[in-house]
Amino acid sequence: MSSPKPLEGLNKIAPYVGGESEIEDMDKVIKLASNEGAFGPSPKTIEALRTAAKDYHRYPDGDSLQLRELLSSKFNLETERIICGCGSDELISLLCRSYAGSGDEILCSAHGFAMYPIYGRTVGAEIVTADEDNITIDVNNLLEMVTENTKLLFIANPNNPTGTYLPESELKRLHEGLPGGVLLVIDSAYAEYTSSEDYSAGIDIVRANKNVAMLRTFSKIYGMGGVRLGWGYFPEEVADVLNRMRSPFNVSFPAQVAGATAILDEEFIEMSQSHNNKWLAWTIEQCRSAGLVVPNSYCNFALLRFPEKPNDDTEHPHKDAKAANSFLKSRGIIVRGLSGYGLPDALRVSIGQEDEMRLVVSLLQEFME
Ligand SMILES: Cc1ncc(COP(=O)(O)O)c(C=O)c1O
Repeated sequence: MSSPKPLEGLNKIAPYVGGESEIEDMDKVIKLASNEGAFGPSPKTIEALRTAAKDYHRYPDGDSLQLRELLSSKFNLETERIICGCGSDELISLLCRSYAGSGDEILCSAHGFAMYPIYGRTVGAEIVTADEDNITIDVNNLLEMVTENTKLLFIANPNNPTGTYLPESELKRLHEGLPGGVLLVIDSAYAEYTSSEDYSAGIDIVRANKNVAMLRTFSKIYGMGGVRLGWGYFPEEVADVLNRMRSPFNVSFPAQVAGATAILDEEFIEMSQSHNNKWLAWTIEQCRSAGLVVPNSYCNFALLRFPEKPNDDTEHPHKDAKAANSFLKSRGIIVRGLSGYGLPDALRVSIGQEDEMRLVVSLLQEFME
């Protein structure tokens, strides 16, 4: 008997593998694998969700208007050009579905966020990647890869999983080198963790152009990954297209309530930022002293690079990323292996709370001894 066949190529898409959250036979684990924010949602956000629960039988506002107005006044944006989504993931998907298809190319940086190629392949587009320079996005390499078939260019800035960033001048140079028909998507999921003076989340570039978009998420500093809420700032015409493409109630009522509270909780955001500044710097320094190569990071995680080949130390013969990952797991700590990101020599460790960072660092020191 014949069976339903999916569209051509869909079976070849490797599904996204998220950070693990369990270890067999261990009740208590420390999860530092998904950059989820060290503290979870702010107490005010939790309270707002509790209060709103009695209204969960109501459909949400299909336009997320109150939330968009709050985002608009916080970041000084035009409300009509903001679209909220079920995570910024949904917006990546909508962009791929709206702007690329079979025969088109979607351009990404070599170690870019995994969902760009995944969503790109669902629409039949070809994924083209540009090499990086010292695990940093390289504008020249990206521009060289642009062809007449390029429709979308996704970069995360700062980038996950490398933690590195492009200064605003480089973002502008990238945009200026693109034909008008290529939509540049600047995914600023980690913007709140970056205070470098030459950094820009991209708002001004989006404001001034018809072919640049910026994406943001509530899953990182706001600690709301499970709520599923993201937003983007788009050129008017792009916003209009995405509004036609999205589901009518794509942002749930709890997500709108949580977002509207979290966005105003400056105290929580500042506390999370200063915690991250302190423990990210400490983690990087300690891991470097333990012999790991750790690039500067501008996110809420550190990229730890291990010697690629096992050394000939007979007591600890395999001081590579894979062995370190197994060692940490055996002690109840989940971090992220990066083979799928083309970085098999590296682990990504999210910045958690102080006791979690002290523990993971002391175990890494023990492993590297
Ligand atoms: C660069 C980047 N963009 C987007 C996302 C997805 O965020 P969301 O949870 O809003 O879908 C992530 C999540 O890890 C990310 O690292």
